[in-house]
Amino acid sequence: MNKKIAVIKGDGIGPEIVTEALKVLDKTGEKFGHSFEYTYVLMGGCAIDETGVPLPQETIDICLASDSVLLGAVGGKKWDNLPGNLRPEAGLLGIRGALKLFANIRPAKLLKPLASACPLKPEITNNGLDLVIVRELIGGAYFGEHKTVTNPDGSKTASDNMVYSDYEIERICRVAFEMARKRRSKVHSVDKANVLDSSRLWREISHKVASEYPDVEFDDILVDNCAMQLVRNPAQFDVLVTENLFGDILSDEASMITGSLGMIPSASLGETSLGLYEPIHGSAPDIAGQNKANPIATILSAAMMLRYSFDMSAEADAIENSVTKVLESGFRTSDIMSDSEGLKCVSCTEMGDLISSEI
Ligand code: IPM
Ligand code: MG
Repeated sequence: MNKKIAVIKGDGIGPEIVTEALKVLDKTGEKFGHSFEYTYVLMGGCAIDETGVPLPQETIDICLASDSVLLGAVGGKKWDNLPGNLRPEAGLLGIRGALKLFANIRPAKLLKPLASACPLKPEITNNGLDLVIVRELIGGAYFGEHKTVTNPDGSKTASDNMVYSDYEIERICRVAFEMARKRRSKVHSVDKANVLDSSRLWREISHKVASEYPDVEFDDILVDNCAMQLVRNPAQFDVLVTENLFGDILSDEASMITGSLGMIPSASLGETSLGLYEPIHGSAPDIAGQNKANPIATILSAAMMLRYSFDMSAEADAIENSVTKVLESGFRTSDIMSDSEGLKCVSCTEMGDLISSEI
């Protein structure tokens, strides 16, 4: 098959990790007889520097005309003082919105060889840690009205409106239930229904959807309790479905308990097969350009692209198995390095080479 992929390298470590992911994609294509055609587009800080805006229209057009989009990471200190709508992050939210990618899938799985990098005690992780966060991606406080006003006395007041409509909740819940059917058939819906109206509607709608999936075990959980349960007993979770901001926060927590933020890929999906695939970590400007970054989350994001957008599950398995093999052989980037015996610290490029040669 021939697939057109729009590639956004982004800022900080973005270009380094994307280069390794493309290396692995090329090798996979070669092995399985596919060709992947890349079109490089700008988004984030680099787009601001070149065009004055974080998300040029050309980028949106090319992404829309592609079969899928691969993204590194955006943002950095250099652009931190720009107004909210001109920051690199606005580009990221803009592309999610423009491509109508309402469902963000973030799997967090503790890989056996990384058990020693996990900050939780073995008696907690011995029960397993393999969950997926299904995060609503284009609603809630991220996309509600943002406002800062100066009051008559000179003081300031700011607000961000957390808005959800029933159809937005319904479609994301469906994604979660469908996903659960392919896994361990368990969904937790995460909300703050004891305080927020948007969460009370979330609860009402999620229950309605749950009634259509009697084969899937279903429970509500308050977000604060969920944050606590993730470190107390993560094995109880299979699929977590939640609104945008809660999902952002919980997915960082979930990634850390798998050993490193550098390990977790994500897929952002809408109604069509066009998806946006990116690691959940940021652009890590402190280590940019040093060939130290962990490319695994981006490589695993490329695997998710093959699985979800191109329906190439054997190819996706090949990438995921190669990652596990390389880790089993003791190779680590510095973020997942520990003083256990037999480990060898490698650079970003070496990690990409190792994974690609396993394909
Ligand atoms: C993420 C990131 C983004 C988000 C930022 C960079 C805007 O933290 O993808 O989790 O908050 O969605
Ligand atoms: Mg985040």
